[in-house]
Amino acid sequence: MAKRSIILLPDPVLRRVAASIERVDDEVRQLADDMLETMYAAPGVGLAAPQIGVSRRLIVIDVSEKDDEKMPYVMINPTIVKRSDEPNVHEEGCLSIPDVRVEIERPAEIVVEYLDRDGKRRELAASELLATCVQHEIDHLDGRLLIDYMSRLKREMVVKRFKRLARERDGL
Ligand code: NI
Repeated sequence: MAKRSIILLPDPVLRRVAASIERVDDEVRQLADDMLETMYAAPGVGLAAPQIGVSRRLIVIDVSEKDDEKMPYVMINPTIVKRSDEPNVHEEGCLSIPDVRVEIERPAEIVVEYLDRDGKRRELAASELLATCVQHEIDHLDGRLLIDYMSRLKREMVVKRFKRLARERDGL
């Protein structure tokens, strides 16, 4: 496994709609393993492939508590097939937009269909943090970011700040 670097706002790869994965092979499994390692090292509870610069429909999640056993999910081509009417508000963060927190209202419970790392079709009913996390990561696959849930003014301020940070990183 290898840790990859996390792509930060405003890199355009984060805004691309990611491509479906046609075949779950060793290359895809390697990508999933690298993403898990990258996510645990960050540390974070979820990561989408575009966040390491790979525009493909793959997400990894682990919302287990620090001292509990790890509970990694690898979801390939995830699709939400059911959403509860009841909403839930969570304060979300994103490894691609460090130090920004946004309160986001999403359906409290969902059912997600996906392929696991063996290419098997799975269905998972998720609630609470797991439901939030799945929806956040699938947003990434559609080029949507948590700043899109902010007011336009606040979003523009965040983007401006990250553009400046990117210029500083590039030494321009
Ligand atoms: Ni994120």
